[in-house]
Amino acid sequence: TCWDDGSSSCCELGDLKRLPQCNRPLGRLDFSSSHTVLVDVASFNSGSVRPQKGRDMWNSNFVKMPSSWSSFATVKTGFTKTPTKVRRWDEIHKHLKGLTKKTTVSVKDVEEAIIKCNPKYKDQWPFDALSSFVKCIPKEENYFPTLFPKIAKLALMLPDYVDKAIPLLQRGKAASITLSQVQISCLLANAFFCTFPHRNATNPTAEYHNYPSINFSSLFGKWSERKREKLRAIMHYFHVVTDERSRPTGLVTFERRCLRDTDVSSWKSCNEKMRKLHVASHGAIETEGTGMLQVDFACNMIGGGVLGAGLVQEEILFLINPELIVSRLFTEKLDDNECLIITGSQQFSRYSGFGDTFEWAGPHEDHLPRDEWRRKQRQILAIDALHFRHSREQYSMRKVMRELNKAYCGFKGDGSGEPDIATGKWGCGAFNGDPQLKAVIQLMAAARAKRGLAFFTFGDDLLKYDLERIHHLLLKEATTVGKLFGLLEDYCSDQVRGGPHVDLFEFIRNHHRPSRSQL
Ligand code: AR6
Repeated sequence: TCWDDGSSSCCELGDLKRLPQCNRPLGRLDFSSSHTVLVDVASFNSGSVRPQKGRDMWNSNFVKMPSSWSSFATVKTGFTKTPTKVRRWDEIHKHLKGLTKKTTVSVKDVEEAIIKCNPKYKDQWPFDALSSFVKCIPKEENYFPTLFPKIAKLALMLPDYVDKAIPLLQRGKAASITLSQVQISCLLANAFFCTFPHRNATNPTAEYHNYPSINFSSLFGKWSERKREKLRAIMHYFHVVTDERSRPTGLVTFERRCLRDTDVSSWKSCNEKMRKLHVASHGAIETEGTGMLQVDFACNMIGGGVLGAGLVQEEILFLINPELIVSRLFTEKLDDNECLIITGSQQFSRYSGFGDTFEWAGPHEDHLPRDEWRRKQRQILAIDALHFRHSREQYSMRKVMRELNKAYCGFKGDGSGEPDIATGKWGCGAFNGDPQLKAVIQLMAAARAKRGLAFFTFGDDLLKYDLERIHHLLLKEATTVGKLFGLLEDYCSDQVRGGPHVDLFEFIRNHHRPSRSQL
């Protein structure tokens, strides 16, 4: 873009750093006290993927597995229907095994099996979305009656595939989990049959109230066109992963990061200047941003409404990369200074539209190369913006700081030449944020993290034009993050006083004093 003085400030998309070009050596896969690896590292490093052996854990630091020896269910047995305590997995096994013995399985059979594994929810969980979905698919494409038993078979592999206990990624603790794509598929097959214990109650005192839901029950009821398209994407995933010929072979890492207290408050004294920026009104983060750190406009409960009614950026991302959904099993609600980074997930589907116009657009062949740990070279950064019910709320420095720290927590690298960042109108759709303010916040966080940005405005030509102009000014004036922070303080104090709304970019242009060196 050329401005009045003939100079150009924004860069081409091709000038930004991406994987695999900026891939760095990882060394051998290893576990540590903060990195749990669910595959056997010794065999992995010599070329084969096997589950890591481990002890069964049934406590508040680990995922409570349906196959745990400590997990029991109460069933009514015998003529007198006496309540009897049985091992949960034996029950699940019995009901799912029944499905695997049939060559074709109806939605009714699936429903019965799920309810037998969750008798408490009999007559409470509707299955109308799943049955309408299967009914509306043309006969020649209707592979579901043979797919259901395959999902059941995959779910039953749980004790063989996941032996080591899965730690919970808890609030305030930086930690990661690496697992194989096959293990993920098996966990998701269990989520499909709603086998995870203690994960159905939603009341505020429930054990997992601070975790997203994982059992798929909410996906199967309340039919809508949105549900149909969601089910298309999810069932396609199971279709691929249950087929020997297309079973994925890699690993995926889920990393919870927390920003240190010392990093939280030093915005005012930050002397970093603006970095490279590319702004595009066409294209999307997950396509044109391939190979960059791709921002997921997340909910603090990771995945947001993916298993319910939600269908905006995060939910769509989770539907086309369903392995992301497993993060809901172990990721506690993100705190203000935390984020989740997922490396290695595979894209299985294409899509078109957004919200009500979203459509599953068919299979995606993911040709991304893999890194040394056999992870697809895809990095997704989940950061949750604040949800502003009233637009004015966001112009408080406390909220601005929260958003700066949230973005910085995700953008901050270790300085070893990581890829640049692909983002856009983070927090500005469902969450009602001001796109100019959020863009400046992301520019500041990227500058502090010393990384470039590709910003996709998703069709917003005006924002593209304005953002390029303001970035140009900030570069020309060599504006530091600290100085911009001061301008934001002035802007916010004007806004909270309740006068007429002034655009942030306009305010910056009007209040920006040339730096000393330019006087
Ligand atoms: N690439 C670039 N920009 C996009 C894309 C894309 N693929 N998709 C959408 N946009 P929104 P939020 C633009 O509303 O406000 C979910 O339920 C588009 O202009 O998804 O942070 C989460 O789980 C859109 O209006 O993000 C959270 O609960 C804007 O980005 C909540 O929504 C914002 O997208 C987060 O809402």
